[in-house]
Amino acid sequence: MSWIDALRFDGGRVLITGAAGGIGRCLARGFAELDAQLLLIDRPGSDWAPVHAALVTTGGRAPQIIECDLEDQAARQRLIDAQFAEPAPLSALVNNAAFVGTSGLRGWAVPLGQQSVDTFRRALEVNLTAVFHLCQGLAPALARAPEGGAIVNIGSIYGALGPDWSLYEGTTMSNPAAYGASKGGVIQLTRWLATTLAPAVRVNAVSPGGILRGQPESFVRRYERRTPLGRMGTEDDIVGAVLHLASGWARYTTGQHLLVDGGWSAW
Ligand SMILES: NC(=O)c1ccc[n+]([C@@H]2O[C@H](COP(=O)([O-])OP(=O)(O)OC[C@H]3O[C@@H](n4cnc5c(N)ncnc54)[C@H](O)[C@@H]3O)[C@@H](O)[C@H]2O)c1
Repeated sequence: MSWIDALRFDGGRVLITGAAGGIGRCLARGFAELDAQLLLIDRPGSDWAPVHAALVTTGGRAPQIIECDLEDQAARQRLIDAQFAEPAPLSALVNNAAFVGTSGLRGWAVPLGQQSVDTFRRALEVNLTAVFHLCQGLAPALARAPEGGAIVNIGSIYGALGPDWSLYEGTTMSNPAAYGASKGGVIQLTRWLATTLAPAVRVNAVSPGGILRGQPESFVRRYERRTPLGRMGTEDDIVGAVLHLASGWARYTTGQHLLVDGGWSAW
């Protein structure tokens, strides 16, 4: 098989969670360009217009949009059951949905003493438990993929490293403990699943560094100074790594954690 063919999904079904979000819709466009049949998941009431706009240029197949609150175990199970009933295999699962630093939750991106245990639990449910549940439930459909299925879990630099608080000084931004804890869990869950689901399903993680998205200038300046490549990331910076790990280009790679962070973690 040629390398170009090994990269393409040839109508293979690819499920992406958090697909209405910033990174999610760029991932959707990338997979569509590689001829995947997309199953796009996000919360009920999500704005899908930017996703459709991103997909128009690919000229690919129409995506299947599935609205599902991943915090709700019963809703997740319905999503899994519907895929179980589907005869076509799943080529790839990208667990990208998460509560992120800017999610407007109570007791979330605030100083330690104000972080709430309830919100900690909710974040663990969406960012980690839902990842486990979807991987567990969809593993049989992934195992039926002709070249083997692939899971790519989206982690974060904060799943591997502690926050540098000097970046946040003088801003209202913060960095919730539950975020780092859940992402650390995702990275370790990736290794656990990789040895458990091998050889039928490969499981890897991609951890983005900070994405430039209207943060205060002082934060951006400090962040850039601390980053070997001299800038914050863009959503599109993350796509190539995920496509690589989901495709035949990574056919001998499993259990790995790839930091896509402009070198942030290299020193
Ligand atoms: N933006 C960054 O700087 C950054 C850095 C490191 C890692 N990441 C990771 O990248 C991934 C994508 O983040 P993003 O920056 O695109 O954020 P985003 O907020 O734009 O997208 C996240 C998506 O997840 C969805 N989601 C959240 N809770 C959900 C639920 N209960 N059910 C269904 N969908 C739900 C949201 O609706 C949203 O569309 C996340 O896993 C995030 O942790 C982002």
